[in-house]
Amino acid sequence: MGNKISKTSKKSTPLPSTNTQEDSDFRYIEGRRYHNGESVKYPLPNDDEVDRLHQQHFLLRYVWQRNFGAPVKHILNQDGTKVLDVGCGAGSWILEMASNYPNTQFTGLDISPIQPSEIKPKKVNFVIANVLDKLPFENDTFDYIFQRFLVSVIPKDSWPDVINELTRVLKPGGYLELVEINPIPFQLGPVTSLYFNAVEKILQLRDLDQQIPYKLRSYFEQHGNLENITEEKNRLPYGPETGKLGQAAIENSNLAFSHAKPFLLEAIKISSEEFDNNLDVSAKELNEFDSYHETCCVYARKKGNY
Ligand SMILES: C[S@@+](CC[C@H](N)C(=O)[O-])C[C@H]1O[C@@H](n2cnc3c(N)ncnc32)[C@H](O)[C@@H]1O
Repeated sequence: MGNKISKTSKKSTPLPSTNTQEDSDFRYIEGRRYHNGESVKYPLPNDDEVDRLHQQHFLLRYVWQRNFGAPVKHILNQDGTKVLDVGCGAGSWILEMASNYPNTQFTGLDISPIQPSEIKPKKVNFVIANVLDKLPFENDTFDYIFQRFLVSVIPKDSWPDVINELTRVLKPGGYLELVEINPIPFQLGPVTSLYFNAVEKILQLRDLDQQIPYKLRSYFEQHGNLENITEEKNRLPYGPETGKLGQAAIENSNLAFSHAKPFLLEAIKISSEEFDNNLDVSAKELNEFDSYHETCCVYARKKGNY
């Protein structure tokens, strides 16, 4: 317990804790590197978190048995097709998509420079930008826009603005696809509940919306310029029936807990040792209680002729 966390300000001055340091773009807590933007809500680090993000990508591809749901297959691989992945993380989705559709131009946008810079397919580029700001693209630029798992990034009241901005840079007739997760699983055991109560608290403190997967469809409907709205739901399971998938999901969840440990410890009053020891108990519980997350994919077409 007792990790001091510095204010998320780029301009902030000397820090109270010996365990915490800042430079302009990043801050370091207990040896981990975190975002350091004033508006950045995201509680996970941007260092070797990339491995966890890649693993999460493969879990999701397995759960959904696909990389995308929107009816865009016919335009992928056509020369000139442009695809944007917002909050692209380590580039897991883009890198796989680019190897499946090598003629498409892929752009990944993220606030953190955790994507490969040298060894990447020719038609892939990454842009460092904040999804909460005006996007650095002209109107009607992309044929297809994909955004996944920004529940812990976009504040509750900002979702309509973000959807507005995504739609602005989408071509008429192009598709927008958002995939979100309810970060709090169902059917939790007592020890696991402790961790997820802390997650819930962090989401509330940061003004993030745990219910976002269930609201996307209505935000799309309210937008007015999106049509053919389709919503699909799925589960990310931890239970015994799921074998290797469940085990990998548990490993991924525990890694996320470890990576967000400084923030979680602020929210649950247990010692650092208890935190680490209880992770094993939680892993067993996730399996025994057959816990699962709900995920939701919503896609729609921007009105107008393609
Ligand atoms: C949970 S990860 C999702 C990564 C990716 N979409 C995937 O599914 O593999 C969230 C990502 O959002 C990025 N992020 C956090 N705050 C952001 C912001 N304000 N603008 C853009 N990206 C942000 C993080 O750096 C991280 O890569």
